[in-house]
Amino acid sequence: MKNKDKILILDFGSQYTQLIARRVREIGVFSVVEPSSLSVDKIIEMNPSGIILSGGPETVTISSSQKVDKSLLEANIPILGICYGMQTIANELSGSVVTSNVREFGHAKISCVNQSVLFNNISFDSNKLDVWMSHGDKVDLLPKNFEIIASSKDCQIAGFQNEKLNIFGLQFHPEVTHTDQGKKILKNFIFEVCKCRKNWSTSDIIDSMVNSVQDKVKDEKVLLGLSGGVDSSVVAMLLHKAIKNNLICIFVDHGLLRLGEVDEVMSTFEALDIDIRLVDASELFLSKLSGVTDPEQKRKIIGNTFIDVFEIEANKIKDVDWLAQGTIYPDVIESSSDDHNSSVIKSHHNVGGLPDRMNLKLLEPIRELFKDEVRKIGAELNTPEHILLRHPFPGPGLGIRIMGDINKERIDILQKADKIFIDELKANNLYDSLSQAFVVYLPVKSVGVVGDERRYEDVLALRAIETVDFMTANWAHLPYDFIGKVSNRIVNEISSISRVVYDCTGKPPATIEWE
Ligand code: XMP
Repeated sequence: MKNKDKILILDFGSQYTQLIARRVREIGVFSVVEPSSLSVDKIIEMNPSGIILSGGPETVTISSSQKVDKSLLEANIPILGICYGMQTIANELSGSVVTSNVREFGHAKISCVNQSVLFNNISFDSNKLDVWMSHGDKVDLLPKNFEIIASSKDCQIAGFQNEKLNIFGLQFHPEVTHTDQGKKILKNFIFEVCKCRKNWSTSDIIDSMVNSVQDKVKDEKVLLGLSGGVDSSVVAMLLHKAIKNNLICIFVDHGLLRLGEVDEVMSTFEALDIDIRLVDASELFLSKLSGVTDPEQKRKIIGNTFIDVFEIEANKIKDVDWLAQGTIYPDVIESSSDDHNSSVIKSHHNVGGLPDRMNLKLLEPIRELFKDEVRKIGAELNTPEHILLRHPFPGPGLGIRIMGDINKERIDILQKADKIFIDELKANNLYDSLSQAFVVYLPVKSVGVVGDERRYEDVLALRAIETVDFMTANWAHLPYDFIGKVSNRIVNEISSISRVVYDCTGKPPATIEWE
């Protein structure tokens, strides 16, 4: 995508950085996110049509915080600073920033003070616009030759510009939906100021990816670890379109999948004429996990065993040159982020890369896409809907949903209970409104009574959540009658379960999975 019109987003650590990048793409222009520390030389080499400086948690009022390089502001590239991004512009161009008396958080109203290209075709209601603010600092002195374009009650300089230099700052967040017409403001920056042309529609993306794969791979063979999840499935569809039978998929059954999943994935891809080979390694995984209760250790064992199994299978196939992976853009951004301080809560990247000794070239065709874009191109590539709309399923599978010891009996019970829950969600039209739903096997026993008989059996928890980005989540307020029905079915149909509970904890403070 080197020569395409693109907007570069420099990430100062805002929770909204990825949202800015997604908005730009929704508007139809390619966007990339890079750490705010990227050198000006590298930025110029990327040749962006415009730059957006994101918000961030720091304050420009201390010397140790990351600032925009002053020479970037002199490089003749259109720049829009949002929140912290605006403050760092002010700070570098001899304006000033102070900590405000009132921390503005949430809805605010701005009024337009001077005409700005950013406000073209924006309809103000009695010169007021609803926006979303989230800041403690504010610009209190304009840089030289800048003018105010917007003010709010608590923030006189809520927007500024120097139209000659094409540098703009907004204290509010145009990227969030709470800002009325925020997308139009971004559009004005992208099309009117940066003069970008549209280049990011679903068919553009597919064409460019198919061409790029064909150019790279030519008539060599590509191996793909297919899990049946959205990302690897869409990679399979894309590669199949690009290189047909030179794609070979390996599906490793680690024995910790959902009930019926192996057959479902195999029959789906076989029906699409994709070369998919099943490896049943369930006994190996189970024996390695025997007696292991620590969640992180489980993840490591499953991840490493997966790599071992995959490598053995790959070596059986002759003349393979490429290994394809379903890496997506949030993985790329997160692994290149500047922030070394954030603590590792869980090691999610269960397939942490295959060993170099395999000597395969890496192909990551969807590494520039966000999840919603993966789904969109997946739909256009005719990926079956049941694959595209399925909830995410963690790599270690049921292994991290059985608290404590993992054994065959527990896996069978959990698979049955999970199927009851998911079938009922689908039958009651609730599945698609949730982001993820599953059952967890708890390491406790509880007393129950069936007929006149006392039972002392195991307990399961139902978990259902709603989220946009899986970084935070709300527990789903499923109807009581529905939960009751699922609970009844589970305790009636699975004799070794005496009790079902519902998890009503958000993230934070809990995580989505229990381990
Ligand atoms: P948490 O539990 O951290 O989960 O709130 C966020 C999302 O990540 C999934 N998850 C994993 N995915 N390997 C994966 O591939 C893992 O080890 C793993 N742990 C959690 C989880 O299902 C949710 O969608």
